[in-house]
Amino acid sequence: MHPIRFITLLACGLLTFNALGAENAAAPGKTVEDLSKTCAACHGADGNGTNAQYPRLAGQYHDYLSRALQEYKTGERKNAIMAGFVSTLSAADIDALSRYYAAMPSKLDDLSHHEQGD
Ligand code: HEC
Repeated sequence: MHPIRFITLLACGLLTFNALGAENAAAPGKTVEDLSKTCAACHGADGNGTNAQYPRLAGQYHDYLSRALQEYKTGERKNAIMAGFVSTLSAADIDALSRYYAAMPSKLDDLSHHEQGD
């Protein structure tokens, strides 16, 4: 590849990366850890839920979590508890929280290593 083309591509890549980084920032003055303290009461500090009625968030796909949160916000997905918690979150907060939980070690499981009847 011609060196100029390579440098141009590299520069475009870096610009895109920076733009994404800025978009993902949490609310000013609040880190994603601050935001997640509210969520921990039900979803657990490790994202695995404090009890079975609260879904695990840890290790779930980022885009799944963010879609769910957006849908609670618009009312497309209805849940009285979650509607209250998402109402103050910005799009950037939702994105940051979704990435935060998606990156946590998951206890999500499938049955692949279970014996029959186990
Ligand atoms: C008082 C308990 C409580 C708190 C606090 C809470 N949630 Fe939830 N959350 C729930 C319940 C209950 C559900 C399941 C609702 C449903 O059936 O749609 C849920 C569902 C979700 C889902 C969808 C999960 C899935 O698998 O579909 C996400 C994502 C989520 N919560 C994120 C958060 C975040 C982020 C916070 C903090 C800003 C938070 N929750 C705070 C109780 C809570």
